[in-house]
Amino acid sequence: MDKLLIKGGATLNGGIRISGAKNAALPILAATLLTEQPVHLSNLPHLHDITTMVELLGVMGVEAVINEDMSVEINAGTIKDQKAPYSLVKTMRASILVLGPLVAHYGRASVSLPGGCAIGSRPVDLHIMGLEAMGAEVQIVDGYIEARVDGRLKGAEIEFGVVTVTGTENILMAAALAEGQTIIRNAAKEPEVVDLANCLKAMGAKIEGEGTDTIVVEGVESLHGCEYSVMPDRIETGTYLVAGAVTGGKVTLKNTDASIMKSVLDKLSESGAKITTGDNWIELDMEGKRPKAVSITTAPYPDFPTDMQAQFTVLNSIADGTGVVEETVFENRFMHIQELVRMGAIAQVNGNEAVITGQEKLKAAPVMATDLRASASLVLAALVAEGETLVDRIYHIDRGYECIEEKLQNLGATIKRVAA
Ligand code: UD1
Repeated sequence: MDKLLIKGGATLNGGIRISGAKNAALPILAATLLTEQPVHLSNLPHLHDITTMVELLGVMGVEAVINEDMSVEINAGTIKDQKAPYSLVKTMRASILVLGPLVAHYGRASVSLPGGCAIGSRPVDLHIMGLEAMGAEVQIVDGYIEARVDGRLKGAEIEFGVVTVTGTENILMAAALAEGQTIIRNAAKEPEVVDLANCLKAMGAKIEGEGTDTIVVEGVESLHGCEYSVMPDRIETGTYLVAGAVTGGKVTLKNTDASIMKSVLDKLSESGAKITTGDNWIELDMEGKRPKAVSITTAPYPDFPTDMQAQFTVLNSIADGTGVVEETVFENRFMHIQELVRMGAIAQVNGNEAVITGQEKLKAAPVMATDLRASASLVLAALVAEGETLVDRIYHIDRGYECIEEKLQNLGATIKRVAA
């Protein structure tokens, strides 16, 4: 199993290009199941999760041609089987995104329950509730969600008790082909939901209100093929900005979008970073200074993203002062803190709150990644630790960060991938 070996101490300087957003690409790939015509997608990130989704479409008989530039042409017209097997779903929870499109288009779906997850129980009850409200019959049989509908799904008013990103996306995709109007209340406002809606519109869907908490969909009988370029990854962007901030450096990120980064950019400014933005770029300049501690509370968009919580925990662990980190989206999302403490961080966890008192320096230690964003935070910690840190189980990182070692090397970090 590969590991990352990182020698801390370098000040990051330079520019890199941000990849397409994983969390937009995954639902958009699932949306290709809504049409029999080819869909051409570009700016897909080169990541394990993307390959898993393409593989999942492949086991159902969907043809996918991947080009060298990671653009892909998907033709779901060749589908033979509407089943998402456990072997693939267990490696990627977002596989649940095929449920809505399959039922809406083919009247049936068999999708393995995702099962346990490192960052809390993460149920899928709201996805199922939404589809049932639209007339699907859903049963759990032998660990599989078996969903059926005679004819088309029917438009419905669906109110989510909790804001759910993939839940909103599943119902949005199902509603696109349902008979009549669907209103989704307390919908997720995440930019990735908007990107999916834009792709569905390019396929002929009638959607209004995406990006607000009420989305209205007028179902159409069929959708057609399209060409679509996936939005930039705001979590990858935020992670590299924090890398610049913790090392006192200056980084310029290209092919990104500052307009969807406000909560993160505000916190970086508060920590002392000079932020400059342009049409499709962001520059962070720490002017060699140590960041000041900042307190954050995670919540659905437009508030501070839970997927940036672990990275800001690292920022606080080397900052001047004490920062409080409150996690309100997921239970059990502080596993990285144990590992950071092994590197000398001073942190106290109390339920869903962590109080972190910044240290001048962290110390290298062998550490283990537990989930995607936690693993990114360990890499950030290693960049500012004295000595060489070996980060184990980096398959988590490869699920969400394209070429992380090349990108960090470009910014001047000493990092290499080593085979165990
Ligand atoms: C998505 C993102 C993930 C991010 C998360 C929150 C993708 C592929 N993943 O995950 O990176 O961390 O949003 O921004 O886009 N919940 C229920 N019942 C459900 C569904 C969710 O109770 O049926 C709860 C969850 O346990 C959690 C909260 O809702 O507490 C938010 O989860 P949700 O937005 O659904 O996360 P994902 O869509 O899985």
